[in-house]
Amino acid sequence: MTTRATTTRYRVEAFHTPSPDRLVHLDDHVITVADGAIVSVQARRDDPEPVDVDLVGDHVVLPGFVDTHVHAPQWPQLGTGLDLPLEEWLGKHTFPLEARYVDLGFARTVWQDLVATLLAHGTTTAAYFATRHPEATVELGRVCAELGQRGLVGRVAMDHPEMTPPDLRDAGADEAVQLSAEVNLELDALGSLVTPVITPRFVPACTDALLSGLGELAAATGVRIQTHCSESDWEHEHVATRFGRSDTECLEVFGLLRQHTILAHGDHMADGDLRRAALAGAGVAHCPRSNMLFANAVFGVRRARELDLRVGLGTDIAGGDQPGVASQMSLAVAVSQMLEDGVDRSVSPGRRGRPGSRIGVVEAFFLATAGGADLVGLPVGVFEPGRRFDALAVRVEAGGTGRASSGLRFWDGVDDEPARRFDKVVRLAGPADLAHVWVDGVRRAGTAGSAAA
Ligand code: GUN
Ligand code: FE
Repeated sequence: MTTRATTTRYRVEAFHTPSPDRLVHLDDHVITVADGAIVSVQARRDDPEPVDVDLVGDHVVLPGFVDTHVHAPQWPQLGTGLDLPLEEWLGKHTFPLEARYVDLGFARTVWQDLVATLLAHGTTTAAYFATRHPEATVELGRVCAELGQRGLVGRVAMDHPEMTPPDLRDAGADEAVQLSAEVNLELDALGSLVTPVITPRFVPACTDALLSGLGELAAATGVRIQTHCSESDWEHEHVATRFGRSDTECLEVFGLLRQHTILAHGDHMADGDLRRAALAGAGVAHCPRSNMLFANAVFGVRRARELDLRVGLGTDIAGGDQPGVASQMSLAVAVSQMLEDGVDRSVSPGRRGRPGSRIGVVEAFFLATAGGADLVGLPVGVFEPGRRFDALAVRVEAGGTGRASSGLRFWDGVDDEPARRFDKVVRLAGPADLAHVWVDGVRRAGTAGSAAA
């Protein structure tokens, strides 16, 4: 018996960035999607057959956003306690909250609220640190599958007797590796939207035995890895003092620097570290909002890209105090300009900043979509045949209606250039402007009254 593919044809004006410096404007195109996969992207004049969903005129379609770094259990603490340095914030606010996820009912309530909210913000893929607790971690995968978000989900392994609280500590390295392996198998069975990730919290929270055990698990199973790397002065120094090596070197020694390893933050990685990570096929989750609060430095995203490192954007919820990737894009541009110019007027302009650091809106958008997809290693982020259809339809008001609270309007005679319209969408679009959010070809969120296929 053969089952017929479910095909949906979308007529769109769309933007995407197949490479960091190339914005492609698809002006009146038809995207044909069969069973969640893009099968063709053609100009309307070359594909005049009937369409199912016509969005041309008042919508701009974009690839869905990829959030490459989220701490799911920190969702209830969003926006709080961020005046402390990282290591104090973890001990005072974060670890006590994360210990509560032994309660599966609490976990499920939080996960449902988090995943639904991120979908509403256009986050079609998220890389999640869940918690130390196996049941709550698998439950997060289940909620992603139920609500239809592409989730990379990891059980947070942490066993260091001095660096973790007793109620949030794995009983020992062997048991922790075993638990992670079992959770990975359970997550793997939850369907195509859910991907397991081996997740040592960060080097300070793990014993040598746990780090090497998780490296062996990755080598044996091919499961991806995510962790924190050289986030702050404190974290970077802590690892250097313990091992006499940089965080990146240390992760490599333990077998944790592999294809698609997601290194969160990376602000204090030196050029040698960036090269080492690039060579391994790893990359950085750039979290500009969180970095302003915790990192003591701006991540040099332009330099990292020059060295061919994979880079995506991350919210770092709740180290970052905003839920969506959209606001990280304009902030990534802004902090790169601050890095280039410097910020202290008492230093002469020639010595104040780091020349050649700034990125533009197109590159920031690349990081939020295709770059993030490349970092996590999933076929999304670009509109081309073979990739999955994860997409957003941004509703755009004509100037003068006074309706869009975000200020996203296209003015006749002012916003006629596509590049200018793109700027506006990237910098202004908020969740209220997202009419439709599709994951794997299925509409999963959006503010439009009527559901589009
Ligand atoms: N390093 C180790 N754990 C964490 C965390 O939960 N958030 C951030 N930002 N950094 C970390
Ligand atoms: Fe983090």
